[in-house]
Amino acid sequence: MDVIRSLIPAELFKPQSQIFDFGCGDAVFFPWFLEMGCHIEGIDISPEMVEIGQQRLTNLGVDSCLIQVSDVNYLKKIPSASLDGLLSFNVLAYLTNEEELTFYQEASRIVRSGGYLVVTHSNSLFDLFSLNQHTIDFFENNFIPDRYHRSEFSKLISDSALSKGAYYNIRENPLSYRYKLNGFKFKEIKQEFINLHVLPPCLLQNKNYPSTLNFAEEQRWKLMFMCSVFGSCSIRL
Ligand SMILES: C[S@@+](CC[C@H](N)C(=O)[O-])C[C@H]1O[C@@H](n2cnc3c(N)ncnc32)[C@H](O)[C@@H]1O
Repeated sequence: MDVIRSLIPAELFKPQSQIFDFGCGDAVFFPWFLEMGCHIEGIDISPEMVEIGQQRLTNLGVDSCLIQVSDVNYLKKIPSASLDGLLSFNVLAYLTNEEELTFYQEASRIVRSGGYLVVTHSNSLFDLFSLNQHTIDFFENNFIPDRYHRSEFSKLISDSALSKGAYYNIRENPLSYRYKLNGFKFKEIKQEFINLHVLPPCLLQNKNYPSTLNFAEEQRWKLMFMCSVFGSCSIRL
């Protein structure tokens, strides 16, 4: 939560800011914005999550209809250039390719020039650190062109099949994500890394991830590989 908060530009916490939270879940981020007098709405595909979120809003004394059950097509109803900030935390990984394209096309349309897109992603570079089947997939997809060397490479990680974890459809490489954003007229201005694995996941006993805030500056490059999630803040050109 702290890392996500550090990613959100202070400008978005100004009174009257227009914010939309795509995949808002139980509206856990709403209090930050409501306390500052911002206008925030959101949708989530899960009726169960929206019900919990609406209860949270009712407890805060605000209209529970600020969040609704819907999907990415809801973004098409939002007027062009009407948002100061579009948020989506821990959601984009679950989208289909088609839904993801709609998300970016609509984000480009509904965020005003100078407004912000703030998102988190499943970090595809973490595959290099996980030393499992995902590492093999990463090398095959990015570095090893031919079938012979692929099978030779996969032998190097001997118990890869034992350690295959969860996998999401949409994953992003923090080194190249800025180019994708450029295609939708966003310029990335900040990244933060989340869920720091102090060891590769197959060796990790304790799944309490240390905070990445205040990580030593000269060591920060490691976060790009050791964190399973990264956040990105970009500005609409
Ligand atoms: C890990 S939760 C994150 C919730 C919230 N953003 C947070 O960070 O606490 C992922 C959320 O994405 C929602 N979700 C998954 N696929 C979705 C889709 N296609 N459209 C909208 N929401 C979706 C789920 O219902 C769930 O609430």
